[in-house]
Amino acid sequence: MATPSPTLASSIGDMPVARICEIGQFDGQRVQVRGWLANRRSKGKLHFLQVRDGSGIIQAVMFKGDVDEATFVQADHLLQETSLIVAGTVRKDERAASGYEIACDALLVVSAARAEYPISPKQHGVAFLMDHRHLWLRSRRQHAILRVRARIVKAIRDFFDSNGYVLVDTPIFTPNACEGTSTLFETDYHDEKAYLSQSGQLYSEATAMALGKVYTFGPTFRAEKSKTRRHLTEFWMCEPEAAFLQLEGVVDLAEDMTCAIAAAVLQDCGAELDTIDTIRSEAEEDRQLKPRREALAQVRKPFVRMDYATAIAKLQELGSDIQFGDDLGADDETTLTRLFETPIFVQRYPAEIKAFYMKRDPNDPVRSLSVDMLAPEGYGEVIGGGQREDDYDTLLAMIDKHGLPRSAFEWYLDLRRFGSVPHGGFGIGLERTVAWMCGLPHVRETIAFPRLMDRLRP
Ligand code: 4AD
Ligand code: MG
Repeated sequence: MATPSPTLASSIGDMPVARICEIGQFDGQRVQVRGWLANRRSKGKLHFLQVRDGSGIIQAVMFKGDVDEATFVQADHLLQETSLIVAGTVRKDERAASGYEIACDALLVVSAARAEYPISPKQHGVAFLMDHRHLWLRSRRQHAILRVRARIVKAIRDFFDSNGYVLVDTPIFTPNACEGTSTLFETDYHDEKAYLSQSGQLYSEATAMALGKVYTFGPTFRAEKSKTRRHLTEFWMCEPEAAFLQLEGVVDLAEDMTCAIAAAVLQDCGAELDTIDTIRSEAEEDRQLKPRREALAQVRKPFVRMDYATAIAKLQELGSDIQFGDDLGADDETTLTRLFETPIFVQRYPAEIKAFYMKRDPNDPVRSLSVDMLAPEGYGEVIGGGQREDDYDTLLAMIDKHGLPRSAFEWYLDLRRFGSVPHGGFGIGLERTVAWMCGLPHVRETIAFPRLMDRLRP
C-alpha cells in the first residue's frame, strides 16, 4: 500500500477537517475526518467503515457508485487500526451514536496496519490487555475512563484554586521517609541515598507556613509489596495543607472537595459514565454497582462522621474479630461502607497505627487527630489526613520513637521552632477516586500506564 503523503490536505482535497464530537456543525457539508479504522463490514455495493478520531466514532458509508473502482477495492482490504482520512458529506442518521454518518466519496490511507490488530472485540484476559495497554487505550471504555480522570483532576484543581489555595509543587527526590520506611523506593543520588517521594506533605507543611493555604498535586511512589485492587506503586495524589486548619476543618474541606468533584463529573461526563456502565465485565456485574450517575448523585453533604471506636464497635457487632487498636483492613472498610449511601469519615485513629507526624488528641493521648474518608459501595479509603503535631518536643519524641534519623528531619523541626501553629490537611488518591466514581473493580484501569508490583511495562 502507498506510503503516506506528507501533504494530506492536497491529496484528499482541502475541505474542512471535522472532529467527530462536533460533526453536527457540518450537517450537509463535505468534510474530511482524520483518524483510525475501528471496524469495517461490507454488504454488496456498500462498505461501512467505523472511523475513530479520538473525539468519537462515526460510520462512513462508501457506495460503489460514489468512488472509483480502485478505492472501492482498497476499502475492502483495510485492516483494523489503519490510519486514514475519509471525505464525504455529513448526513443525519438517527441510529448512530453521534446522530450522523458520512456519505464517503474519497479515502486516503495514511498508514496501513501491518498486521491483524491484536485486540479484537472478543473478551481478552487482563494480563493480555495489560501487556497491550498502549493499544488497549484505543478502546471506548478506556477513552471514557481517561476522560473522567482528566475531569476529576480539573475539578480538584478548580476547587483549591477558587478557595484561596496556592499550588506549590513538591520534590520527588527526597532524603527522608514520610509514610513509613517499609514502602520506600531507594535510588542513588550522586553517591547519596535518596527516596522517591511517598507524599509531598512534609514540604507542603513548610509552604503552608509560608503561604497559608497550599496544595501539591503530583506523582507519589510506594514500594507496595502486596497485589491488591487498590495499590499502585506510582500513583497521583493531591494534598492540600493549611495553617490554622484543625481536624474538623480538614474534614469539612475534604467533604466540600469531594462534593465538587462528583458534581463536576456528573455535569460534564454523563456520556462517559454511561459508556462505562454499558461495557462491564462479568466480574464487575457481580458486584451489583449502582449506575454511576445515580452513585454520584448521592455524593451530597453531610457525609457520615464516625469515631474510630464507634467503627470498631460496629464491625464487632457485624461479626468481625477486629479489636480496638487494630487498623481497619480492606474488608473492614468494605463492610462499613456498605452500611451507608454517602462516604464515611472515620476519625481519631489510635496514634500507634498512624504516621509519626499525626497530632495526639489532647483529650486522649492514645488517639491521634487523624481522619480517613471511605468511599461507598465497598471502595474504602480514598482520602487520608488530619492535624499535624505542632509541638516541637512531642514531634521530636515521635521522630525518635519511629526510629527516623533526626538529621534528615532538622528542616522539618524548624517549622516547629519558628512560629509553629496548629495546621492540617489531607491527601486524596486520584486513582482510587477514579475507580470509585467510574465503578471499576481495580485501580489498574484508572491510569494510562499503571505501575504495579509486578508491572513496569509497557
Ligand atoms: O493515607 P496516605 O498514606 O496519606 C498520606 O500520604 C498523607 N501524607 C496525606 C496527607 O495528609 N497529606 O495516602 C493518601 C491517599 C490514600 O487515602 C489513597 O487514596 C492514596 O493516597 N494511596 C494510594 N493510592 C494508590 N496506590 C497506593 N499504593 C496508595 N497509597 C495511598
Ligand atoms: Mg492512609
